Amino acid sequence: MGDVALRIENLTKEYKISKGERVRALDSLNLQVNAGTMFGLLGPQGAGKSTLLKILVGLSKPTKGRTLIFGREQRDWRTRARIGFLTQEPCFCDFLTGEELLLHTGRFFGIPPEESSKRAEELLSLVGLEEAKSRKIKDYSREMLQRIGIARALINDPELLLLDEPEAGLDPRNQKEIRGIITALSGRGKTILLTSSHLVETGSICDSVAIIYQGRVTRRGRLTELLRKGEGKKVTFRIEKKGVLNTINASYRSEEANGQITVHVPHQKACDEIISTVLSRGGSIIRVEDEQLSLEEIYQEEILRETHV
Ligand SMILES: Nc1ncnc2c1ncn2[C@@H]1O[C@H](COP(=O)(O)OP(=O)(O)OP(=O)(O)O)[C@@H](O)[C@H]1O
Ligand SMILES: [Mg+2]
Repeated sequence: MGDVALRIENLTKEYKISKGERVRALDSLNLQVNAGTMFGLLGPQGAGKSTLLKILVGLSKPTKGRTLIFGREQRDWRTRARIGFLTQEPCFCDFLTGEELLLHTGRFFGIPPEESSKRAEELLSLVGLEEAKSRKIKDYSREMLQRIGIARALINDPELLLLDEPEAGLDPRNQKEIRGIITALSGRGKTILLTSSHLVETGSICDSVAIIYQGRVTRRGRLTELLRKGEGKKVTFRIEKKGVLNTINASYRSEEANGQITVHVPHQKACDEIISTVLSRGGSIIRVEDEQLSLEEIYQEEILRETHV
């Protein structure tokens, strides 16, 4: 523990799009991921998430910068064998079955056939595809493709697993299942770097997260810390007597749902005042929470920061 799995220093990537025209997808990006942790790289579309992952696995060359994986240069072939990768748009040989895809990938990594078969069986069970292992991949649904993609990324028993938007295009139930599989893998000591544009859902399973915006990491830390909105609090209560809101500072935002009222206050003192007002009128406090920023607010802050620099 405490080892660094991934160290990215001043990574810049520019794509040439036409004569003299370039897009800067990564802009002097710095990032460190500790071994054995689950790290979420979260950012809006076009932020540079896939570009970063492609560079890490050698599918794209950086314009500038350095990447060390388990202390070795990314280009070192010994490093490649320790990485598993799920691309954002998995593109498999359609004519293979799920099981054949895993065995084929095992061969690519030079894993002995017997060992490959054993691992394939375990992985098909892990991702819930035992029943479908003999079906051709062309007949797989979107969700099954994500599952087989994760299994394939694991066939070489990688220490570092890179998952580019593993939940994209899935319904909430399948998203939850995929999150469950990823969490289980993290429990086995793997280092996982996953990307998403869904801050809260994905961030909640990560040990730490970084927000990537316009090719730069703009914030990093634990999700709860990143989302805390200053000193703001949310008080939710239930009260029989109507009119309590009239006695509360009119500048506070409030909403009512299912017989519960939630008031957003800027600091603890205001929160305490509301609690005593509600209790003195016979109401009950349901919960008090830290006010959290929404994904939109976080990105909005980045935009504002940009325009004020
Ligand atoms: N092959 C390419 N050629 C030219 N520009 C590219 C290429 N790939 C990515 N870009 C551009 O680089 C920027 C970053 O793209 P990237 O796909 O890395 O973002 P992303 O965060 O993965 O987005 P998404 O959430 O949509 O997957 C975007 O402006 C994109 O248009
Ligand atoms: Mg992407």
